[in-house]
Amino acid sequence: MSIAQAFAAAAADYEQHAELQLQVATHLLLRVQERLADTPPRRILEVGCGTGMLSRQLLATWPGAELLCCDVAPAMVATCREQLPAASYCVADGEALPCPGPFDLIISSMTVQWFRHPAATLADWRQRLAATGCLAVALPVAGSLASWEKTLHRLNLPCGLQPFPELAALAAGLTGAYSSYDVQAQEKNVLALLRHMRGIGGATPRPGYRPLSAGQLRRAMAACTAGGEPLVWRIGEVIT
Ligand SMILES: C[S@@+](CC[C@H](N)C(=O)[O-])C[C@H]1O[C@@H](n2cnc3c(N)ncnc32)[C@H](O)[C@@H]1O
Repeated sequence: MSIAQAFAAAAADYEQHAELQLQVATHLLLRVQERLADTPPRRILEVGCGTGMLSRQLLATWPGAELLCCDVAPAMVATCREQLPAASYCVADGEALPCPGPFDLIISSMTVQWFRHPAATLADWRQRLAATGCLAVALPVAGSLASWEKTLHRLNLPCGLQPFPELAALAAGLTGAYSSYDVQAQEKNVLALLRHMRGIGGATPRPGYRPLSAGQLRRAMAACTAGGEPLVWRIGEVIT
């Protein structure tokens, strides 16, 4: 199943599992509101809108703005459209956008980590901004779920997580601020975390990964718990 198909399959129940995604989107929007306090955006592009948890907040914040929501998964776009008919929509790959701009704000939350070429894509989005426009991106970055990765490494077992981008490499070449913060996963163990990731459609493993056997998974979970390090998401934000 492709990344797009996995997200499409999760569209109906996505928001039941998406506490972290809501928290990250809300945090990003607050930072963007500060940045754009004097220049409210008139044309906004959101990439990876999902079911619209951020999209709805965007239009509530700037009700007069034109909002174009894009996502690679048609079922995500359909769900978002049902809840927010006032926006415009496009099913498209964020790495090959058919919308030239200029936009006053291009925003994306918890999506860019799925891209093959995240840094080049952000540079491309930057070109689609108006002169005073803002690019705002939040995503899990390198350091996320490190305790699980380290445990697997120690046990010589493969890790299926997609590699998380390095924040500094992502922001290189963009003028603006970048920062990160840690959020402890709410799930009490790796199994519950995997359920969360499946629930949002975000459990597609890295290419070539062969799933652990039940015994390997049990051993790795026990070792991770015994290690005493919590499961933590490192969320990076880039705001130009
Ligand atoms: C974890 S969800 C986040 C959705 C929303 N931004 C939120 O915070 O709830 C990731 C979204 O990115 C979309 N996505 C993944 N790869 C994409 C790509 N290459 N282009 C556009 N959207 C993509 C998925 O379909 C999914 O809707």
